[in-house]
Amino acid sequence: MKPIESKTAEETLALGEAMGKLISQGMSIALKGGLGAGKTTFVKGFAKGLGVPEEYYITSPTFTLINEYPASFPFTLYHLDLYRLSSADELEYIGFDDIIDDNHIIVVEWPEILKDISFEFDIEIRFQFDEHYNRRISFFASGQPGINLLSRLFL
Ligand SMILES: Nc1ncnc2c1ncn2[C@@H]1O[C@H](COP(=O)(O)OP(=O)(O)OP(=O)(O)O)[C@@H](O)[C@H]1O
Ligand SMILES: [Mg+2]
Repeated sequence: MKPIESKTAEETLALGEAMGKLISQGMSIALKGGLGAGKTTFVKGFAKGLGVPEEYYITSPTFTLINEYPASFPFTLYHLDLYRLSSADELEYIGFDDIIDDNHIIVVEWPEILKDISFEFDIEIRFQFDEHYNRRISFFASGQPGINLLSRLFL
């Protein structure tokens, strides 16, 4: 699939919001890309689209590792940032296994460490800087739920 070019934070927010609105089942989304590439910005829009009330300010769970937000019924949004996790053993302390549920939407920044436990994401989104410092955002799906969501997003 062709990458999306985002020139502003607002465009990335809008893209996240559009995807959040299309969620109709539990799913996991990996957000890959360097520092400041726009992962948390995307999650802010995504949370809005998913119906997380405006009074919840979405901040990166850099130190808490995991933030939980109520979303449109019956969903709960879990936003993880595993940048500071040094080994997959520590996943146990944040209760990673317990957040896997049909009604949970799990978005993970710095997800690479989850490879160690062979965790499979429904969707992977890659954020890259282009030569003009705009963002190039690419989407990949594995499995039917992810494929369905991306095909509706890019219809
Ligand atoms: N096209 C764009 N898309 C997203 N963010 C942009 C864009 N242009 C500029 N920005 C700015 O870049 C910054 C992106 O920060 P953000 O916290 O979303 O990155 P991140 O990928 O989550 O980084 P980290 O790995 O440190 O968590 C924000 O300050 C945002 O306003
Ligand atoms: Mg972030």
